[in-house]
Amino acid sequence: MVDVFITRKTFDEVLAYFDEAGIGYFHNAQDVPLPPAELAEQLAQSGAPALMSVLTDTVDATLLDAAPQLQVVANVAVGYNNVDVQAATERGIVVTNTPDVLTETTADLAFALLMAAARRLSEADPYMRAGKYKRWQLFQPHLGLDVYGKTLGIVGMGRIGAATARRGALGFGMRVLYHGHHDHLEADREWGAQRVDMETLLRQSDFISLHVPLTEETHHMIAARELAMMKPTAIIVNTSRGPVIKEVDLVAALQDGVIAGAGLDVYEEEPQMQPGLAGLYEHVVLTPHIGSGSVETRLRMSMTAAQNAAAVLQNQRPPNPVN
Ligand code: GLV
Repeated sequence: MVDVFITRKTFDEVLAYFDEAGIGYFHNAQDVPLPPAELAEQLAQSGAPALMSVLTDTVDATLLDAAPQLQVVANVAVGYNNVDVQAATERGIVVTNTPDVLTETTADLAFALLMAAARRLSEADPYMRAGKYKRWQLFQPHLGLDVYGKTLGIVGMGRIGAATARRGALGFGMRVLYHGHHDHLEADREWGAQRVDMETLLRQSDFISLHVPLTEETHHMIAARELAMMKPTAIIVNTSRGPVIKEVDLVAALQDGVIAGAGLDVYEEEPQMQPGLAGLYEHVVLTPHIGSGSVETRLRMSMTAAQNAAAVLQNQRPPNPVN
């Protein structure tokens, strides 16, 4: 019998933390995802009341039913669309996530994608490496778009959206528009941000950055209709969840020049992406879901999840419950 079932390779610090707390664990140190049936079987066999999962583990009713001893699912991510929270709640299982610790790191990547797509870094870098730079020209092959002073549209003004907006407003003199369920009074007051309806945001923004969780409401919230409302010079950035954008429509919009570019860190069917995307270079930058991907932040996320699991095991309220 163990206390925590850790689905994927984790940090030594996490294991040391459990050791020190006298919490026993099963650790899938191989870092290869267990197929769902195997995960269910091994979790049931382990008898562990805590599951430490990552965002590619599907924690659905089938898995929960296979492990009736479960008390807590501690997801190592701020997003928890991989967990059926309703099914967990119905079974009295606590679900936790890792907010805050990844906010600034993810906002850094959103801004990096925005800058890289605007200034065409993913085209300029291989050009340089290939020895193609022969002379400076006024009309060089990689002329880009200005960022400073432009309009930044933030869809979803939660922690990460606001941190991205702050970078734009304070670092790059950008006008910030945002769309979300609530006013962000600090952003309005301190950076002159404005909450607007989605259509205004789409029509007026030069850069649009998505920061919504994946829900029924946000699934495909950016599709052909919305892309058609954007400026032909606009760039869209997605560090949230792939299915927020209808990827096939985005590829068509980029191919047809409906919008200028995209900086994408997430995809509709990860780890796959629409085949058309790989052939698009101009103002297109693609990264493999590394929004939270700094060493420090991945450690902080893992420790946060471990602390959430430990709290439930010790009959305490975990720091980050989502149900
Ligand atoms: C990463 O995508 C996360 O939700 O933490």
